[in-house]
Amino acid sequence: MPPLLPTATLLFLLTLGAFLPRAASKSTIEPCSNSDTCSSLVGYTLYTDLKVSEVASLFSVDPISLLLTNAIDISYPDVENHILPSQLFLKIPIPCSCVDGIRKSNSVSYKTRPSDTLSSISSAVYGGLVSADQIKEANSKAELSDPSVIAVGTQLNIPLPCTCFNNTDNNLPAVYMSYVVKDVDTLAGIAARYVTTVSDLMNVNALGSAEIKDGDILAIPLSACASNFPTYAKDYGLVVPNGSYAITASHCVQCSCGPGSRNLYCMPASLAVSCSSMQCRSSNLMLGNITTQQTSAGCNVTSCNYSGFVNGSIASTLSTSLQPRCPGTQQFPQLIAPPTVLPDSVFSPAPAPSESGGIPTTNPKSSVVPSSGAVLGFPPAGGPTGSPSGSSGAGFLTDHSISFPIMLVLGLFVKFVLSFSL
Ligand SMILES: *[C@@H]1O[C@H](CO)[C@@H](O)[C@H](O)[C@H]1NC(C)=O
Ligand SMILES: *[C@@H]1O[C@H](CO)[C@@H](O)[C@H](O)[C@H]1NC(C)=O
Ligand SMILES: *[C@@H]1O[C@H](CO)[C@@H](O)[C@H](O)[C@H]1NC(C)=O
Ligand SMILES: *[C@@H]1O[C@H](CO)[C@@H](O)[C@H](O)[C@H]1NC(C)=O
Ligand SMILES: *[C@@H]1O[C@H](CO)[C@@H](O)[C@H](O)[C@H]1NC(C)=O
Ligand SMILES: *[C@@H]1O[C@H](CO)[C@@H](O)[C@H](O)[C@H]1NC(C)=O
Repeated sequence: MPPLLPTATLLFLLTLGAFLPRAASKSTIEPCSNSDTCSSLVGYTLYTDLKVSEVASLFSVDPISLLLTNAIDISYPDVENHILPSQLFLKIPIPCSCVDGIRKSNSVSYKTRPSDTLSSISSAVYGGLVSADQIKEANSKAELSDPSVIAVGTQLNIPLPCTCFNNTDNNLPAVYMSYVVKDVDTLAGIAARYVTTVSDLMNVNALGSAEIKDGDILAIPLSACASNFPTYAKDYGLVVPNGSYAITASHCVQCSCGPGSRNLYCMPASLAVSCSSMQCRSSNLMLGNITTQQTSAGCNVTSCNYSGFVNGSIASTLSTSLQPRCPGTQQFPQLIAPPTVLPDSVFSPAPAPSESGGIPTTNPKSSVVPSSGAVLGFPPAGGPTGSPSGSSGAGFLTDHSISFPIMLVLGLFVKFVLSFSL
């Protein structure tokens, strides 16, 4: 009998903790003016075991595209029904739009299930990428007349944070990933993990200090390979992060980036079914083929390059150049088998913060706002902490501090339950 009560108590407290408003979560937003859509990523940690197709449907993305973004081998049989382990971290490719003057993704919709609440959708299902208030705002009153009981099967629009910043970082191609900070994270750890620097992260996110908190949403620049397709191509602006693959042209063409080069490399996709010709005109070369010929003047390199999906057909360009040395064989990002267990690195602690990273210059391109009322995890013990300050003039920082009465009530409640259970 005694062991039962503490367990129940703990569960209750965990549940309660999950529904407390957090102190001052911040999220980086990017102002925008035109109506174009650009490429971005969100970082997502699975809240439970999910099939590939289930994760894809949560984010309204193509499962193949989801797998290739994470360099997961799509040639495994029935890979879309493969079950991915809870707590696995994935990069989800989402189109980033311009809505009411700021970058956000509005292409994601979620069909509610029994016992969903706005806070469980926000904190569990979408891992803190969206707050309950933001879901409420993005949906009409009729759907949410009583947010505590949402009719099962309601289609909710889920606005997700995204940024593009012109798909460049320090004038080099980049894709930005929206990342929900966990309590173990430090800015230095994140910088190391994503091969960037603390000062770059501070610049991009207009942070006044390197202090980040559980629940903050950062934009993390990932180095990438950019395409050079004409504006009328359907996949204009395609940009692929280092270490990733992308599928385009109705699943006919697969492009990769890295590891050794910043050139986008495209070739016929392994699952290409009925595709228009992938051969370069007036040559026998196929997309991705490169021929070399050593001459006294250097290496004569001829390649058949993909140049966009135009009017339903695959455009290609035959290009010839004289290079000092012949290129080596094409290197590809390493494909992994569909994960069944978590990779070890998930459990290793992030590197400790370093005091390096000079004071960032003011950053004109982003601003930081609270993601209002985000609800996930536990608030830091001891209540509100100081917020980073001194961001650039463009930023508008306002903290929604956790309400003290709630802290107080929780405190009393903990005491009460503990004394009761002892
Ligand atoms: C966006 O990036 C392109 C190159 O990719 C560059 O030519 C252009 O000037 C950039 N625009 C802005 C507003 O930074
Ligand atoms: C791409 O990632 C590889 C490791 O996967 C790294 O060695 C390489 O330096 C990266 N390239 C760029 C341009 O960031
Ligand atoms: C050209 O590309 C096709 C398809 O990727 C490949 O099967 C073939 O081996 C390549 N040929 C040469 C000469 O590289
Ligand atoms: C390079 O190779 C292409 C095709 O193989 C050929 O047409 C061209 O004349 C060559 N150029 C030189 C400078 O050798
Ligand atoms: C074509 O592809 C090759 C190999 O990836 C690359 O070196 C070259 O710059 C590309 N040419 C053009 C015009 O994009
Ligand atoms: C695409 O097709 C339309 C009509 O089918 C044509 O008017 C247009 O010029 C085509 N665009 C390109 C880039 O070929």
